[in-house]
This record gives sequence, structure tokens and C-alpha cells, in this order.
Amino acid sequence: MIPVFEPDIGEAEISAVVEALRRGEISGMFGRCIPDFERAFANYCGCRYGVAVSSGTAALHLAVAAAGIGPGDEVLVSASTNIATALAAYHNGAVPVPVDSEEVTWNLNLDLVEALISPKTKAIIPVHLFGHPVDMDRLLEIAHRHNLMVIEDCAESHGATVRGRMTGSFGQMGCFSFYANKIITTGEGGMVVTNDADLAEKLRLLRNLAFTKPRFRHEEPGYNFRMTGYQAAMGLAQLRKIHQVIAGKRRMAHSYHRHLNGILGLQLPTELDWAFNVYWMYAVVVKPKFGITRDQLAKRLAADGIETRTFFCPMNQQPFLRARPGFRDVPCPVADRLWETGLYWPSTHTLSDENILQVVNSVRRAGR
Ligand SMILES: Cc1ncc(COP(=O)(O)O)c(C=O)c1O
Repeated sequence: MIPVFEPDIGEAEISAVVEALRRGEISGMFGRCIPDFERAFANYCGCRYGVAVSSGTAALHLAVAAAGIGPGDEVLVSASTNIATALAAYHNGAVPVPVDSEEVTWNLNLDLVEALISPKTKAIIPVHLFGHPVDMDRLLEIAHRHNLMVIEDCAESHGATVRGRMTGSFGQMGCFSFYANKIITTGEGGMVVTNDADLAEKLRLLRNLAFTKPRFRHEEPGYNFRMTGYQAAMGLAQLRKIHQVIAGKRRMAHSYHRHLNGILGLQLPTELDWAFNVYWMYAVVVKPKFGITRDQLAKRLAADGIETRTFFCPMNQQPFLRARPGFRDVPCPVADRLWETGLYWPSTHTLSDENILQVVNSVRRAGR
């Protein structure tokens, strides 16, 4: 089976982790790896501060908590996203309100945002889906007008830019995941980046059980969302390769484009003229003109030894969100359709030309 994604862990990561362990950098209390990784990654994103955490989910949860968002508040989120985006609002006691997708990049449709803002709306969490950025200049303009906080979900967009500026540096906070299949990985892990010194301090406090003085007496409820030192050591080794990884993703995507462009009924990922897409995953939408359905295509690909995954089930369809008091039943017809018709296939940055051709040939055969 050609997997949708394969981790690329080399000798540099292995020795970085082993050396960190030898120095006793087992948790954040010891050594330099965590502050070094935080500084280096924040700097990569064009931000002043980085707060390393245990996952992308934790990063989002912590950012919403640090923003002071809680019961009685609403948070606008991309409808088409990993559940972690909505959970950040949900577990802080707020109601996530889905914003439907647009048809070209599959990101949240900025034309729909203003009509969804209510007196309860405190923040918006845009997701840079599959590596294509949201038009953050436009989104910030809307957010400023309505005094909304912006927390970017950059779990899939490390290195993606909008008019040359890094995703993660637009909102008050940007949240990254370093899960195994992300652009860079620490196995599990995440980071919140920000330019706001007060928010950085709050994030650090809440990440570490909100310890203050005297120790063991707590003014507020915190979390243990700490990263280990040896994960940060791995993150530093991965960060040295990030340009290579992104170049590999773009090579993979351009190669698929070249071979598949023009196939009737197959919508390929795009790159708008102001955007730099890092193609975290090569995602396509199967339209009626393709001749067979998305599920039939997935079956044909599986029969040829090619793994696929569907797009996300949108937030408007999640049973536990629908059951929450205060849930707003916003129709999301585009996100609904993407869930039915979208899939992604092998997208590793080191994918061989031979494997790319295998996928291409299998898709071409299936579409006939
Ligand atoms: C858009 C998005 N947000 C958040 C997450 C959560 O990150 P993690 O798995 O590190 O908790 C993911 C992926 O896993 C994601 O794709």
C-alpha cells in the first residue's frame, strides 16, 4: 500500500533526541531545547514568542483559554476542519459556530462571516486547510471591524504565506501541530505563536498548571500541556529541514498537477495568486462529470494499493456539537458536499516519481 503519508525521520532527529536524553532533557524543566525550539519556530513564523505544548489540539485549547473565551461566548470556526478546532471552543465552554467553505480553496468563505457574527461572538478560528492559506488580510479587516480575536489554526500550514507573510503571524495567536503527519513533527506536539507579550505569559502560565507563588496555591485553573525536552530537540532537527520538506511537497503537487490537469470532473488543489500553498496533503474533489463517485474512486485506488482519506466531516454535522445547548444550526452546503466528494491520496514530500505515476495511472483508469 502506498500510504497517504510516511514520516521522514533520519539520523539527525535520532541523534538530537539521544543527545537530549543524555543531557537529561526529559521534561521542560531541564535544558535549553524547549526555549531554543520556541524561539527558532516563532522566528520562522515571523513572531516574537512561541509556547510549545503537547499537541495541536492543546495549542488551540490553550489559545482559546488564554483569550479569556468561555461560557456564553461563540467562536466562528471553519466548517471543514479537524474536530480539534471546534473542541477548543467546546471544552472552554463556548459554542463553535461553523462557517461554510468556499469552492476554490475549500477554506472558510469570508463572504459568509459577517452575517454569522452575533453579540456573543468573541473570536474566529480560520483553518488553512490542506496547506492553502486563508486570505488573512481580508479576514483581519473583518475581525477588526467587529472587534473579534483571531486565532489561526495552522496545523496544516507551516510555511504557507499570504502575500509573502507567514500564516500564524496574522492573528493574535497562531496554533501549530507537530503530529506525525505534519509538515514538521515531534511525534506529538504543538506550539502557539504570538507577538503579544501578555498573551505569551498567560499561555506559559496556563500550560504549566498555572503555578504561581507560593507554589501549590493556584489563582486559576491551568493545564498540563507541556512538551518534553527531547521532543523539542527533535523539533529543532526537523525545523532545519523545513524548506526541504516544503520544496518536496510542492514538487509532489506540481507533478500531480502536470499529469492530472484537464481531467473532466476532477477538481485539483489550487494556489491563488496571493498565496503560497505548502500542499500538506494533495486533496481533490470528485465531481459528477468524473463518471464515478468519490467512494468508488477510493475503492479503485485501494485495489491498486493506494491509500486515501476523505475530507473532514463538517462541524455542522457533528452529533455532540449539535446536542450542545446554544448550538446554531448554520447550513453548510459546500462543506457537506466536500465531505461527500473530497479525498486525499499519497502526499509524502519524498514520494517517488514512480509512486506518483502509479497514483496518476490508477486515477486515469478509474475515471474512464
Ligand atoms: C486543522 C487541524 N487542527 C488541529 C489538529 C490537531 O492537531 P493534533 O493532532 O496535534 O492535536 C489537526 C490535526 O491533527 C488539524 O488538521
